[in-house]
Amino acid sequence: MSDFIQLVGMSGSLRKGSYNTMLLKAATQLLPANVSMDIVSIEDIPLYNADLDQPAAKQRPEIVEHFRKMLTDADGILICSPEYNYSIPGGLKNAIDWASRGEDSPLLRKPVAVIGATPGLWGTVRMQMAFHNVFLFLDMKPVYKPEVLIAQAEKKFDKDGNLIDEMAKKLLKQKLEALKKMIHLQTQVGDVLETKVI
Ligand SMILES: Cc1cc2nc3c(=O)[nH]c(=O)nc-3n(C[C@H](O)[C@H](O)[C@H](O)COP(=O)(O)O)c2cc1C
Repeated sequence: MSDFIQLVGMSGSLRKGSYNTMLLKAATQLLPANVSMDIVSIEDIPLYNADLDQPAAKQRPEIVEHFRKMLTDADGILICSPEYNYSIPGGLKNAIDWASRGEDSPLLRKPVAVIGATPGLWGTVRMQMAFHNVFLFLDMKPVYKPEVLIAQAEKKFDKDGNLIDEMAKKLLKQKLEALKKMIHLQTQVGDVLETKVI
């Protein structure tokens, strides 16, 4: 791997004025040195259908192939998501499911960080916890600390969508640094600990 790190970032919210899309934008402005981030949208990804998830038959929807390719090309992933009903929003989980199958899954052993914002008081902690099971199954390399839990989001962004809370900015910066370190670590360890995902 070169010294340069490529991330892919996604927002779990499709709504205009999404706090999580604002948070993703803030992350692009706080990236460590030699790190860049492309943004991928989950908006048009269809519902998962295993009958279509057949790379040999070239039946995967084009947009899914594009999504998987962006993840494949990235050294690490930043997921920025709301919490829906104490869990991962359905649209985001659906996109993750499309990327999760096959020995060429771009998620296998990939470094990842999850952050989130909510007007509520718990800062998306239950959504972030729900991701732990996904990471476990796919042997992903999550960066757990520091936790970026943006509660009462309406107070943390200005009217132009800029993150204005200094503590949140500090934690987000540290989280991105930790993700960078995890990517370097994973590059060194390589596939030594490779396990089979069924
Ligand atoms: C279907 C649905 C379920 C929600 N469940 C939760 C929840 O469990 N916890 C929470 O803090 N907020 C919950 N909310 C409120 C969201 O945090 C809020 O709508 C937030 O602004 C969504 O993120 P966004 O601004 O990025 O779109 C829910 C909202 C929706 C639409």
